[in-house]
Order: sequence, then C-alpha cells, then structure tokens
Amino acid sequence: MAEEAVLGYLENNYEIRDSGEFAAERGVDHNEMVNVIKSLHGFRYVDAEDIKRETWVLTDEGNIYANVGSPEVQLMLAIPPEGISRDELQKKLGPTVFKIGCAQAAKNKWLEMGKQLISRKVEHVEDRVKDLLLQIQQGQGIGLDDIKALKARKLIVPQTWKGYSVKKGPSYAPKRKKVVTDLTRDNFQSGEWKELEFKEYNYSAKGQPLEGGHLHPLLKVRCQIKQIFLCMGFEEMPTNNYVESSFWNFDSLFQPQQHPARDSHDTFFLDAPSTTKELPEDYVNRVKQIHESGGYESRGYAYDWKREEANKNLLRTHTTAVSSRMLYQLAQKSFSPKKYFSIDRVFRNEAVDRTHLAEFHQIEGLVCDRGLTLCDLIGVLHDFFSRLGMTKLKFKPAYNPYTEPSMEIFSYHEGFKKWVEVGNSGMFRPEMLRPMGLPEDVQVIAWGLSLERPTMIMYGIDNIRDLFGHKVDLGLIKKNPICRLGIE
Ligand code: PHE
Repeated sequence: MAEEAVLGYLENNYEIRDSGEFAAERGVDHNEMVNVIKSLHGFRYVDAEDIKRETWVLTDEGNIYANVGSPEVQLMLAIPPEGISRDELQKKLGPTVFKIGCAQAAKNKWLEMGKQLISRKVEHVEDRVKDLLLQIQQGQGIGLDDIKALKARKLIVPQTWKGYSVKKGPSYAPKRKKVVTDLTRDNFQSGEWKELEFKEYNYSAKGQPLEGGHLHPLLKVRCQIKQIFLCMGFEEMPTNNYVESSFWNFDSLFQPQQHPARDSHDTFFLDAPSTTKELPEDYVNRVKQIHESGGYESRGYAYDWKREEANKNLLRTHTTAVSSRMLYQLAQKSFSPKKYFSIDRVFRNEAVDRTHLAEFHQIEGLVCDRGLTLCDLIGVLHDFFSRLGMTKLKFKPAYNPYTEPSMEIFSYHEGFKKWVEVGNSGMFRPEMLRPMGLPEDVQVIAWGLSLERPTMIMYGIDNIRDLFGHKVDLGLIKKNPICRLGIE
C-alpha cells in the first residue's frame, strides 16, 4: 500500500517533500514508509534524499504530567478554599509532587504561604504545562520559550527525526516490475525474455557454506608432505598395519629388551592375539646374537635375549618398525639404492596433554645407499624442510638405540621468534643393518617427525586436542581454508 502510494503520487507530482508528513496524511506508519522508500531507492525507481528534523519528545516524567496534570495544578486542586497545613498537604500529595508543586505554584504567584496555612491566591488555574506536553505528544509545534521552560524542567528532550524527500528515479515506473532471476527455457522459447527485467548478479554475495565432506587439516598437510617426498623421488612404504610385533618394533632396531620404552607404561601391548605367529627365523637368530654377544665389530649388550619378549604384539610406537621391515626385504635381493617415506599413525601409552596424544601420526623418510655420510643426511634434511618453508635449521646431538650418530632437528620459527624442535634423525647403526644382510658399505640415513606439529603451526592451533580426537570441533574442520598460501 505504501509502495503504491509513493509511486502513484510521483506519477503526477514532482516530489514528496517529507516522508513523515506523507505517511501521516495517508495513515501509514513512518517506519513502513521508510522501508518502502529504501527498497524503491535500491532498485532506482526513486531517488531519496535524507532529511532530518529536530523534534521534542516527552521524558517519563513529562508523560506522567501529560496524563495526570502538572504537580503545581495537582497541588492547587488539593488545597481547600479555607487553606491547609503544610504537613497535611504533603501527606495528600507525597513529598515529590508537594515539593515541585509548591515551587512552581509559588513562582506563578498562585499561593499564599501563611505561617500556619497554605492557601490559594487565585481561584482558578489552567494547566498550561499539561496542555503543552499534550501538544508535543501529538507532534504539534510550540513556542520557543515554552520549549526552553519544559526542557529546563526535564519534561522534554530533543530527538532527531529522520526521513526522506523523494523524487522519480532513473528507473521510475508507476508500478514495480517483477524482476526475474533466471533465463529459463520457457521464457526463452516464448520470447517473453525480451520484456523481462532481470535481477542483477550480486558478485559480492557470500556463497552458501559447503555442506559436503571436508578434509581434515591433518589430511591436507599429509597430502602436501607426500607431494614433497614424491617430488624428491621417494617411494611410499606400506604402513597399513597398526599391530606390530615387538621384534620389528624394537628388537630389529637394536633396542634392548630392558629398554624403558618396552615397558607397558609406554607401549600398548595386545591381549589378543598377544603374540606374533611368524618371524624370519634366520634373521631372528642374527638379531638375538647381536643383542647378546655382538658382531660386526660391535660388543652387543651382553644380556640374555628372550624370544617371548620379541613375540609380543603391540600397537606400533613408531613407523620405524615399517622402515625396518622394508630394509630387511631390500637386503634379501641384490642391492639397489632406495628412498622411502611413510606418513601414518603410531601409538604411545602417554599421558594426554595439550601437546601429547596417545595416538598421533609420524612422518618418516629414509635413504639407503652405498657410502652415505652425515653430510648427506644434513643435505637431505635441508632439502626436505625448506620445501615445508623451514629454511633455517640447527642440529643437536641426540640418542636413539638404532641410530649413530643421531641428531635432533630444530627450525627457526619467524612467527614465534625462536627455535622449535621439528624432528629426530640419524644414521642407522650397523647393529641394525648388518644382521639384515645389507652389504657392508651400505648406509641408511633417516629422519622422523610428527604430522601434528607442523599442522598445528600451519593452522595456528595450540592444543593438539583441538586438532585430533573426539573433542575436535567439526566447525573448525569445515571452516579451515581449502588452501593456504605460505607456511606461517
Ligand atoms: N623413530 C623416531 C621417533 O619415533 C624418529 C626417527 C626416525 C629417528 C628415523 C631417527 C631415524 O622419534
């Protein structure tokens, strides 16, 4: 209705000067009129210009007096012809109306304030204050002096009224055309499209959030790291066995059977099946021997190696168990150099906190060739980590039962402004490689790191439980970007 009124009026008139008056004349609520004008303006049917007016509205107190009369008149009406004592009058009116009423009535010279009694000086009074307030309430103008007086008594406050003046716009029509959003087969075939007005595309509208599947950040980073390995010519190792025997997880890696990591406090052992069925017997014997009495220039650990211990099944504690299997297989054929990698899940019986989980993912790389040195390891680490955006590396001597020398890897984080540990590495010991049957001059350089750590850094997540596990907020998985530019 309001829309028809605006468009209809402009058909024969140059301008709607004031949307407030226009709405009032037609009995339309001004807010509704404003919405209609805004919409017509948006589609350029009309040009609307802001207009502002200072108006006055009643305060709460002003509203009360507009209803029940000003305190001074209330007071006058409460005074009987013979006069009344102060106390009694105050009791009748209450302290506030009494106080204000007295002051104003005295100012108007309406009162006779005797020692005992208060009595009227005038018989009849008009409630001008009430009348003025009612006029303002109805949107009528009043004189400047009256405004000042009411404002001083805090019965009215100013308010800016906003409306529009409205003229025809460039797309003016006496009736709004229906805009269509799509060119359809029907309106195309019928030729109707020639007459239709099409809705403009809003190129800055936000799209609907995707409700389909979402890749987890760990999967995205895993994919990126896999690409890095593939670009560097590495082959992926088959890591599809979470259950491993102690033999491959520890013994083959020259990790002694008393080593604390082999305690159930650190490792999840399986109840069923509790032991492995099959191990390569010849190799098992060579491993037993290297642990007990050494060989290949090693003295071994000099303890009584137990087969039962090696047979125990566990959830693999590192993917190096798989590396060990792969190197053993490699040693069964005539030697050719290899570059292997894996990225998969491992398990540790650890107390869970903001940086540790009982299951997480390891990234592991190894190069197996004749005559490799520590320099080759440092070189390949620089190559690998710089592809991840980590160009400043530092190495610190470390210890692993299966590598010598071993190095922890640190990278300088430009955002954190400090060195952060990013991995562990080393050259596999002859005690591990020689019993497998690898030629004497073959060395293996290897490194490992967690997948969670770089992912948390890339996605700015500081609690690992927000990234992986049952407490992960699915909203985060949905919201995180499809691609990232850069690493920091
Ligand atoms: N397996 C080691 C770990 O769990 C990582 C590592 C891999 C270290 C290869 C040296 C060589 O931390």
